[in-house]
Amino acid sequence: MAKKSIHDFHKMVAEGEKITYLTAYDYLTAKMMEKAGVEMLLVGDSLGMVSLGYDTTLPVTLEDMIHHCKAVRRGAPDTFIVGDMTYMSYQISNQQAVENAGRLIKEGGCDAVKLEGGGPEIAGRIKAINDAGILVMGHIGLTPQFMGQQGGYKAQGKSAQAAVNIVNEAKRIEEAGAFSILVEGVPAPVGKAITERSGIPILGIGAGSYTHGQLLIYADMIGLYDNFTPKFVKQYANVNEIMTNAFKEYYKEVKEKNFPIDGEHTYNMKAEEEKEFLN
Ligand code: KIV
Ligand code: NA
Repeated sequence: MAKKSIHDFHKMVAEGEKITYLTAYDYLTAKMMEKAGVEMLLVGDSLGMVSLGYDTTLPVTLEDMIHHCKAVRRGAPDTFIVGDMTYMSYQISNQQAVENAGRLIKEGGCDAVKLEGGGPEIAGRIKAINDAGILVMGHIGLTPQFMGQQGGYKAQGKSAQAAVNIVNEAKRIEEAGAFSILVEGVPAPVGKAITERSGIPILGIGAGSYTHGQLLIYADMIGLYDNFTPKFVKQYANVNEIMTNAFKEYYKEVKEKNFPIDGEHTYNMKAEEEKEFLN
């Protein structure tokens, strides 16, 4: 299937077809997701936790992102790929934001970039990147790069006033030129209100069923990441258990000398060659 463009995403929204979106960090998983038909992949800075073993997304560098974006692109050449702008890769100035967004596109092979926040400063960054001809996805609600101010990874928009603020942020970044917005970790009525008021595709992760599309962190939804599972995740498999059992079985069979079995898992020599060799 051909790679989707923003026109295709708008058409899906108009026709009520949900957009599927998953995070990916490497070649193999991206390849499987493209095969499954998933329309959009996010090389998220959740990379820091899922693939690099950090406690937060903050240590992830733009170089890390580019490295993984390239691998995901090789695995999913025909899928729309969004690359996350890392912590401190866009906060400082519009110029810094445009330069680094350009690197995710030019070096990473992404189709769009995503950055967190809904305040006036961030709206300015979105406008600057969009003016440079780069598609920008906004990200509001629970925004992990703001974990200090949000007091950890907590659902946002739970009070009426906080909900109104998030709805206003969505409008602000749509007006700034975002092509789409990701809404994370808000009550379902907040996800619905944003979606109803929006002229651009709204994607949700832990934002209820109403949004135009759904995102999950792939390592959560296949039961691979076992440090912590957010409430909004559905586990479609238990890959952590399957892999751990395979590693245990391998350990046991090697110790017990049941793997490899000569003749089955080994290369053979022609009889005369073996005879000459052993002489
Ligand atoms: O980094 C990421 O995977 C994300 C999603 C969790 C929204 O930004
Ligand atoms: Na992210």
